[in-house]
Amino acid sequence: MSQTHAEIHPIASNHVLIDTDLTPDETRQVLELGLAVKRSPKDFGAVLRGRYAAMLFEKPSLRTRVTFELGMKQLGGDAVFQDHKGDRIGEREPARDMARNLDRWFDVIIARTYSQDTLEDLAEWSSVPVVNALSGMYHPCQALADYLTLRERHEDLAGLTVAYVGDGNNVAHSVMLTGAALGVNVNFACPEGYEAEAEVIARAQALGATTGAMIQVMNDPRAAAEGAVGVYTDVWTSMGWERETQERRIAFAQYQVNSDLMALAAPNAIFMHCLPALRGEEVTDQVIESEQSAVFDQAENRLHAQKALLMMLLAG
Ligand code: CP
Ligand code: NVA
Repeated sequence: MSQTHAEIHPIASNHVLIDTDLTPDETRQVLELGLAVKRSPKDFGAVLRGRYAAMLFEKPSLRTRVTFELGMKQLGGDAVFQDHKGDRIGEREPARDMARNLDRWFDVIIARTYSQDTLEDLAEWSSVPVVNALSGMYHPCQALADYLTLRERHEDLAGLTVAYVGDGNNVAHSVMLTGAALGVNVNFACPEGYEAEAEVIARAQALGATTGAMIQVMNDPRAAAEGAVGVYTDVWTSMGWERETQERRIAFAQYQVNSDLMALAAPNAIFMHCLPALRGEEVTDQVIESEQSAVFDQAENRLHAQKALLMMLLAG
């Protein structure tokens, strides 16, 4: 048996489709376990021995795919990847049938989808956990890695402020929801018409009211960046929205993260991006290549945070 020095608390929810499927306590536990796994990966090398993940991806991926596959292997299990870029989940056969095949063979289904409904369909019919590996609405595994990256730099996250400058997309939604769970204030700045979903903002604000986090929506990126310990951005055009690329370039032109914006943040603030990044659009080459840039730490931490999540989800 492996010697694990950190407790693996089981997660109460059967599935992780949205950030709030984890309670604030569970969210913190993922980060703490993620730190422990990062410190001593060998201690956890047999925790998921003989456990297997099915991975269904409707969109391209570098980080998410390889970190889940590698993570399962490093924990003693394995993963099987199914490319759904050609035929979407539910096209060749209904998602409910796919779920009831896969749950006979696998211990967890990890899916990247266009629609949140596809994930919910899989989850409704699957007897094993379903994990959101990015949907059009949320990217909870990314947010766990992002806050792990901040947690490595700050013992206590509660009361800190993160600025998210850019599109109100899946990543923005998860940065707000997981931030709210952890007591982190999130200043979200976007051009008019590109706000996050009102329902998600309301949910993050309601959660924030219980943890002390302020989730604020504004149009001025400079106001958002002021005093922030992390300045976060993502592409202006997410996967699936390519037809809007040109009009988005115009709408977001004043929302680039550059050295002037970084100068308004806290003295040791980090630049954050989920990647892939488009240099010269949402971020300057100078900022993403600067000492302040934490983007490769975030990418590395996908591995550690997801290993922690998988152990907690499959524990017991
Ligand atoms: N950040 C992220 O999810 O990257 P991939 O799309 O490469 O998985
Ligand atoms: N918002 C981006 C994130 C990619 C990791 C997208 O959905 O394309």
